[in-house]
Amino acid sequence: MILLNPGPVNVSDRVRQVLLEPDVCHRESECAELIGHIRTKLLQAFVPGAEDDYTAIVLTGSGTAAVEASVLSSVPLAKRILVINNGVYGQRLSAIAGTHRLGVPELKFEWGTCPDPEKVKLALQQHPEVATVAMVHHETTVGLINPVEEIAKIVDDAGRIFVVDAVSGLGGDPLDIAGTHMYVVAGTAGKCIQGFPGVSFALVRKGFMDRALKYPKRSCYLNLANYYEAQEKGSIPFTPAIQLYRAFHEALDELLEEGVAKRIERYGRMAHLLRQRMGGLGINAVLAPERQSNSLTAWYLPEHVPYQALHDALKAKGYVIYAGQGHLESKIFRVANMGALTEHDFEGFVSALEAILPKVIAR
Ligand SMILES: Cc1ncc(COP(=O)(O)O)c(C=O)c1O
Repeated sequence: MILLNPGPVNVSDRVRQVLLEPDVCHRESECAELIGHIRTKLLQAFVPGAEDDYTAIVLTGSGTAAVEASVLSSVPLAKRILVINNGVYGQRLSAIAGTHRLGVPELKFEWGTCPDPEKVKLALQQHPEVATVAMVHHETTVGLINPVEEIAKIVDDAGRIFVVDAVSGLGGDPLDIAGTHMYVVAGTAGKCIQGFPGVSFALVRKGFMDRALKYPKRSCYLNLANYYEAQEKGSIPFTPAIQLYRAFHEALDELLEEGVAKRIERYGRMAHLLRQRMGGLGINAVLAPERQSNSLTAWYLPEHVPYQALHDALKAKGYVIYAGQGHLESKIFRVANMGALTEHDFEGFVSALEAILPKVIAR
C-alpha cells in the first residue's frame, strides 16, 4: 500500500528489517548507547554546526507527546504561553495550553493564511505575563509553511521563549533552528524522517535547558527536564519503545546518508511532479505555490466527487489519500509525499487517479 497521508509513512526495507533484531533490556548499556547515538544524529541532522548549542531529548509517544512535553516544560512559574493558531495543529497547541491553564487568548488566523508578525509583536507588548510563544512550522491542515523564522526573531527580540511544533516539517522543509535561536523544536520519527510512529523528540537550546530544569514540573511523564537529566546520565526515566528507537536510528542514518538538504530537495521535486500532473487533470490546489510545503498538497475535491468514493477507489488500487479536517472536510483532500517513495510511485498514483476520476463522479 502506498501511503499518501502525512504519516505514518512508508519506510524502507532497511528500516523495517531492524525491527527483527534480538530483544534487549532498556537498562542495559546497548540501550543507553542507542539513545546516545539517536541524540547525536538528531543534532547532526537538524542543527549542523551548532551541535554544541543544542541538546536532543527522545521520548516514546507520537508527535503530540513531544509537542505537549515541549509546551509544559517551557513556561516559567506564574508565566503564560501565547499560541499562534492557523490550523488544526495550532488548535492543538491551544488545547494543550488550555488543558493546563497556561494560556492567554490565542492569536488566531484563517486556515491557509500566514500569521501577521505585527500582531505577534503587539500581543507580546500587551501581555508582559507571556514568557513563551508556540506555533506550528508546517501546518499540515492545508500544507502551509508558516513564517516561523521571522516569528522566531520577533520572539527572541522580545526576550521570550519560542516553542515550535515541527512534527510534520522536519526533514521535509528547511528550518533554521540554530540560526534563529529557536528554543524548543518538537519532531517525530514517523513523518519526513521516515521512521515508524511512536518515537518523538525535542531539540532544545542548551542554555535554555539549564533554565528549564528549574521550571515547575507540570507533568510526570511529559516533562523534558526528567528525560534530559536521565539521558545525560545514560539512563531513561520510563520504558522506551526500544524496537522503534532502533528503527528510528536506522532512519536517521538513512537521512544523514541522503543528506537533509537532499531529502528536502527530493520531497520538493516529488511535490512539484504531483502538482504538475494533478493540475493537468484539472484539480485545483488550495494554496498558492509560494505557501505550499514540500511534503503535502491540499486539493479541492473536483465538482461532484465525494471524498469517500475517491478514497475508496484509490485504496482499492493501492493508494491511501487523506481527508480534509474541520470545515474543509467535505471540500478538500490531501496528498502527502512523505516517506520512502519514488517518482514511479507518484506516477502510478496520478495514473490511477486519472483512470478513477470519471468513475467516482456522483450524478
Ligand atoms: C504539525 C503537526 N503537529 C502535530 C501532529 C500530531 O502528531 P501525532 O499524530 O504523531 O501525535 C501532527 C500530525 O499529523 C502534525 O501534522
